[in-house]
Amino acid sequence: MKLNVKPSLVVSIPKRSYPIFVGVDIFENVDYSQFFIGNKALIVTDDHIAPILLDRVTKTLSKFADVDFLILKSGETSKNMETLSRIHSKLIENNFDRSSTLIALGGGVIGDITGFAAATYQRGINYIQLPTTLLAQVDSSVGGKTGVNHPLGKNMIGAFHQPLAVVIDISFLSTLSDRQYCSGVAEVIKYGLIKDKDFYSWLIENIKMLKCRDHSALITAVEASIQIKAAVVAADEREENIRAILNFGHTFGHAIESFQRYEGFLHGEAISVGMILAMSASGLLGQTSDADLDLLTNALQQFELPVNVPKDMTKEIFLDYMDRDKKVLDGNIRLILLKSIGHAYLESTETKPLLDKLFKTL
Ligand SMILES: NC(=O)c1ccc[n+]([C@@H]2O[C@H](COP(=O)([O-])OP(=O)(O)OC[C@H]3O[C@@H](n4cnc5c(N)ncnc54)[C@H](O)[C@@H]3O)[C@@H](O)[C@H]2O)c1
Ligand SMILES: [Zn+2]
Repeated sequence: MKLNVKPSLVVSIPKRSYPIFVGVDIFENVDYSQFFIGNKALIVTDDHIAPILLDRVTKTLSKFADVDFLILKSGETSKNMETLSRIHSKLIENNFDRSSTLIALGGGVIGDITGFAAATYQRGINYIQLPTTLLAQVDSSVGGKTGVNHPLGKNMIGAFHQPLAVVIDISFLSTLSDRQYCSGVAEVIKYGLIKDKDFYSWLIENIKMLKCRDHSALITAVEASIQIKAAVVAADEREENIRAILNFGHTFGHAIESFQRYEGFLHGEAISVGMILAMSASGLLGQTSDADLDLLTNALQQFELPVNVPKDMTKEIFLDYMDRDKKVLDGNIRLILLKSIGHAYLESTETKPLLDKLFKTL
């Protein structure tokens, strides 16, 4: 076995820089000895992923540490304080200490809760992200946002805690459902729109390759996405300014997800509609064209992503949910819009007049 995989990039945060490895079937060829400071590791995963990947991952990591595992019930409902407490109990009962390492093997749910367990156990221990959904590979595994949901609000309890490394093995995606895969594609398209016109054009030209999960197209798409996320996170780790552009389409999308009580659209599906609305708003300001909107609509539809506001969601409902959003300040909403393709910015605007105009275009 050659442990010779080199990182595709490094997230440069002072004192907390970390490597991101991207490739196909690279998982076995990363030298994990550089990350483990103690000899104990706990893999946290869910009951969909465990039968598929737990043996493979345990076998490799056992060469570097004593490996134990904890299998959670899959799904967003596991992302809560009770589950967090289960992880902590497992760590305490098995004498894990500050030199121990947590391994998040899963999608964004597992990544967020495991990262938060690592942030909070004995005031912070190391963790490694092994993302298994496209959304987690291009988004949630990088950037250090960790946390759980509270009965009164999603992601309300959390911490910034950067991982020690992120290993993105594209082969992990082979068992992911089409719907989950396409939901992740929405975030990939987002990166092109907010920061990289050339990447966006490449995506449009390579829709067919991405649809059939062609490995080389996926590596290009994941690396480009992560590069954008890593650069934005390095510039603004705690979302005090520029990091907000990663929320393009998300203010509208979050309103849809909350209205549907997280039981309707998947996250990427809600963001798909959100991006259409955000681009329409950019169009109303004369910044993007009808042709831009048509191109985006067509691209999203090719991935079977929704592009229309759910029928039962009126302008008034949007207004209600958007005004509850954390981004509202003095009745003005801070929306991420596009100056042009590849150039996102923060626009502060009154919610109601904007929605009045926007709904006339729908
Ligand atoms: N921390 C961040 O910066 C950040 C960013 C975006 C989203 N998130 C969070 O991420 C979560 C959503 O993540 P997600 O979309 O990955 O959902 P998820 O973790 O619930 O995974 C989706 C489903 O796919 C299954 N699955 C995962 N990998 C699989 C594989 N390889 N093969 C077969 N099935 C597999 C899971 O068991 C689950 O049923 C949300 O809680 C959201 O808040 C966090
Ligand atoms: Zn998102």
